[in-house]
Amino acid sequence: MKDLLETELQNFIKSILPEKNDLELEIQKYAEENHVSIVEDEVANFLKVITGIKKPDKILEIGTGLGFSTISMAKSLGSNGKITTIELLKGRMEKAAYFIEKSGEKEKIKMIHGDGREIINQLDETFDIIFLDAAKGQYGKFLEKCDSLLNENGIIMADNVLINGWVVNLEYPERRKKTMVMNMRNFLEGFRDNEKYELTLVPLGDGVALIRKR
Ligand SMILES: C[S@@+](CC[C@H](N)C(=O)[O-])C[C@H]1O[C@@H](n2cnc3c(N)ncnc32)[C@H](O)[C@@H]1O
Repeated sequence: MKDLLETELQNFIKSILPEKNDLELEIQKYAEENHVSIVEDEVANFLKVITGIKKPDKILEIGTGLGFSTISMAKSLGSNGKITTIELLKGRMEKAAYFIEKSGEKEKIKMIHGDGREIINQLDETFDIIFLDAAKGQYGKFLEKCDSLLNENGIIMADNVLINGWVVNLEYPERRKKTMVMNMRNFLEGFRDNEKYELTLVPLGDGVALIRKR
């Protein structure tokens, strides 16, 4: 099924990206050696470009991982822009803190350790961009919770919405993945007649949803 996503076009898109810097290469090497999933190059580039266009004051990210996406977005923020990023795993968060420190973008980034599903209920600020990159089966629930946190004309971006391509043909290697795949498919189809939000699916990497609050 992975073939569905690995087209000649994807390879071409990757080939025209800017060369990676030493830190990006270091994070990717660590991710590969430690089996940590991070956003793909073309997705990092997409996040950077959208951040540059939108010029947000505040971004919320759920799923810091190694901070690869956090650093990509921070690079395009203006000097007053801030990112709040939430990560469930303490060790992962510490590693991200190390990479963020090295990136020189630390002043723009506030890291919160905890479960995004709980932390978002405690936040008392609103955001111009929310980037979802955690708990793929629960994007629908995150969207509901994020609604009051998103400014008017705010956008939500969500990575891996095709889940290895399984969401396209509703095929998955194990039965226990079924709920996650079906939840994601329902999440995407739910935008057909959604009065509050509109979605476009950008087929980069494992699929990125770009969602606009009307
Ligand atoms: C795909 S990785 C994020 C990669 C990251 N955006 C990057 O590019 O480096 C997903 C991360 O979400 C975290 N995660 C999963 N469920 C979460 C939750 N409920 N709240 C916060 N983080 C969560 C995982 O521990 C994992 O590090």
